[in-house]
Amino acid sequence: MFKNYFVTVMLVVFFASQAGAAEDGGPAEFKRGILLAAFGTSMSEAERGISNLVEETRRAFPNVEVRLAYTSNIIRRKLKRERGVDLPSPPEVLARMKDEGFTHIYVQPMHVIPGEEYDDLKNVVEAFASVKGKYGFEHVALGRPFLSESSDCDLMAGILSRRFADLPSGKAVVLMGHGSPHKANAMYGEMQKALSRLKGRFFLGTVEAAPNLEDVLAALKKTRSKAVVLSPFMVVAGDHARNDLAGDEPDSWLSLLKKSGYKVEADLVGLGEYPEVAALFVNRVREMIE
Ligand code: CO
Repeated sequence: MFKNYFVTVMLVVFFASQAGAAEDGGPAEFKRGILLAAFGTSMSEAERGISNLVEETRRAFPNVEVRLAYTSNIIRRKLKRERGVDLPSPPEVLARMKDEGFTHIYVQPMHVIPGEEYDDLKNVVEAFASVKGKYGFEHVALGRPFLSESSDCDLMAGILSRRFADLPSGKAVVLMGHGSPHKANAMYGEMQKALSRLKGRFFLGTVEAAPNLEDVLAALKKTRSKAVVLSPFMVVAGDHARNDLAGDEPDSWLSLLKKSGYKVEADLVGLGEYPEVAALFVNRVREMIE
């Protein structure tokens, strides 16, 4: 009895001292690192959606190294080609962190739904987690995207309703999500349901899947709104937001809504720029670490 108690106390003291060493950046037996994985953007004016989430994570975990990777190869190559910017992929960052002596890694995606990008990230994380021996980490965890279960949609709907709380009552908010052929695209439908529970002033469509702009127009028609605010339902207000949503082209959502008789304005702020979304994101990281 006494012996067991002694062993337990010694183990607690041992692990506490290891954790303490890591907090001070001391001996490397226990070194924690966070990898944030964004889809990415090639537009510098859109980067704020990503950098805000990185900064807030750094503020929340001042003693843990926080790094960023882009999951989109197309974006990474474009950045390299056009701006000479080297933004690493998740496997690159993980390999480097292993080399630098990190033992515990927490990977948090900035993706909205657990679609293809998330699946690819998950494959990499699982591959690293399966490596035994000197090239493997002691622990690799993967966090959840913003919308991975129905309750996440209610949280996000609440954030949106507070963000647009000051809007005049006759105005509707039209949100543009990305959309995907992946089965996780169903989360956009869940999200629309959560938004509809908020008295129907929010309409969500996607660029590449269902629901689409036609669904949004049909739903809008049933309301008395004659004015809409357009906003991206994506982490950054990047290419899709500035062109497909609010561009001057005749087939942008802005042009098509105007053609349908609505008074339209654009609010080009990415989800990652909302303080409440950043707080939600930091909570997702905390769920993994604590
Ligand atoms: Co796209």
